[in-house]
Amino acid sequence: MPTALVTGATAGLGSAFARRLATQGYDLVLVARSETDLKERAEDLREEGVEVEVIAADLTSDEGCDAVTARLEAAPAVDLLVNNAGIGHERPFLTTGIAAEERLLDLNVRAVLRLTNAALAVMTERRAGAILNVASVAALGPAWLSSTYPASKAWILAFTESLATSHQVTSAGVRMTALLPGYTRTEFHQRAGIPTTFPAPWLWLSADDVVRAALADLEKGTVVSIPSIRYKIAAWGLRHLPRGLSRVAAWDISKPAH
Ligand SMILES: NC(=O)c1ccc[n+]([C@@H]2O[C@H](COP(=O)([O-])OP(=O)(O)OC[C@H]3O[C@@H](n4cnc5c(N)ncnc54)[C@H](OP(=O)(O)O)[C@@H]3O)[C@@H](O)[C@H]2O)c1
Repeated sequence: MPTALVTGATAGLGSAFARRLATQGYDLVLVARSETDLKERAEDLREEGVEVEVIAADLTSDEGCDAVTARLEAAPAVDLLVNNAGIGHERPFLTTGIAAEERLLDLNVRAVLRLTNAALAVMTERRAGAILNVASVAALGPAWLSSTYPASKAWILAFTESLATSHQVTSAGVRMTALLPGYTRTEFHQRAGIPTTFPAPWLWLSADDVVRAALADLEKGTVVSIPSIRYKIAAWGLRHLPRGLSRVAAWDISKPAH
């Protein structure tokens, strides 16, 4: 049985990844901070007849990353790493506080860097494996003004594209995909205190649909996966409209009325 390690596996997209991968016959390693949630998810998933390990780790800390990289370097080998855990902030830069901004960077960027590094070392040696890094359509442009979240996701996109098509990775037969979801119904917005009254209901995606599209794209070797026609069009706009126009149209979270 192949093994997949999913970070942020107890809610939202991570939980949907774990569910879908279990139905595809993957044994799982689930990572999140809450041990109680991890144990509950593991029990549910074992009903699919797969082995499930859990690692309770805060990926904003060195110790948390060390615990997960140790598992990536151990046996049985991890065939698929899903770097999914990520956070956003509702408040604009300068009011979040530097500690919160550093936490966002530690989770959205530094943990992805460390886990990808550990997984790729083993995968290129084994000449097999795949890595899916969860970014966002916000990676493509100034989606929100005065938010550092889009910058963190732009890093994931650039990082993944740079490695995915490199000789080092392709010649070892390892696949890498950056996933760019649009607004998806998960716990993300509630946890960050971001209102879910925006955007219009038809723009919200389901986590299961996003995961299905992402895994199909990874299988095909697509480097940048953008689930749904709606967000493929939005992504085209963000990529091709003059940057100045995108900035003018962007939502400014530092405006008093936002
Ligand atoms: N939802 C959207 O609209 C949307 C759109 C584009 C991109 N994304 C991206 O999709 C990814 C998943 O988001 P989601 O919407 O599924 O979020 P979610 O529903 O809030 O789930 C977050 C998961 O990450 C875990 N987590 C949070 N902080 C962590 C930490 N410090 N260390 C380890 N695990 C941590 C949480 O468990 P614990 O709290 O127990 O740790 C939970 O399992 C993120 O990278 C997000 O940026 C989301």
